Amino acid sequence: MDQQLWKAVDDYLVSLLAPPDPSLDAALSDSTSSGLPAINVAPNQGKLLELLARIHGSRRILEIGTLGGYSTIWLARALPENGELISLELDPRHAEVARVNIERAGFATSVDVRIGSAVESLRDLVNEEVEPFDFVFIDADKESYPEYFDLALTLSRPGTMIVADNVVRAGAVIDPENPDERVKGVRTFLELAAADDRVEGTVIQTVGSKGYDGFALLLVTG
Ligand code: SAH
Ligand code: DHB
Ligand code: MG
Repeated sequence: MDQQLWKAVDDYLVSLLAPPDPSLDAALSDSTSSGLPAINVAPNQGKLLELLARIHGSRRILEIGTLGGYSTIWLARALPENGELISLELDPRHAEVARVNIERAGFATSVDVRIGSAVESLRDLVNEEVEPFDFVFIDADKESYPEYFDLALTLSRPGTMIVADNVVRAGAVIDPENPDERVKGVRTFLELAAADDRVEGTVIQTVGSKGYDGFALLLVTG
């Protein structure tokens, strides 16, 4: 483990490929000054999300876990003119910080932050019979990833891409005896995804300024 080197390499890569950006920088500094935890994606990870959503031509994006809206802004940048992003957040204080950040970034009309337990908000979306989403980013409480996966699938169509953050957890993911509910949550999620004929996926381990973790990348096939 060499966190110092990972951070130095991330700083170099970010300075080249995700240089300072007024809306994103302001979103992070407002999040910090409002006391939000610094558990947003790293800039180069945010850019990966934007690129994936753009490559995929995503018009409707669903995010589970808004925090201060940092990843939300990256994802919203991928949207076409008539695109829409719904982001789900439990904590009204986080949602309020996000609302200001999203508005300043110019996405007040394309992004809808919904406050409440994400499981309930997802069930509401199912009941509202909303159009399926093209891209889903799962990044809220890890304990609930199995439920988020199930509900995200209900809100998907063949071709939907689902990305889930923090599924490696510094390697803890390989320990079936790990008592941490977050580890249990991501393990169950990965096992469900692996066994489900409706998705094809992979997991990529990552190191960098946010430590050692990983993303699951899933394609809904049926
Ligand atoms: N996607 C953000 C980081 C999200 S951090 C980014 O990268 O910028 C996880 C967020 O999920 C926190 O804001 C937390 O309040 C929220 N959260 C935790 N449990 C939740 C729940 N049950 N329903 C909805 N949101 C939840
Ligand atoms: C935590 C949550 C995240 O989404 C993340 O990227 C890192 C940490 C957390 O709850 O600690
Ligand atoms: Mg995360």
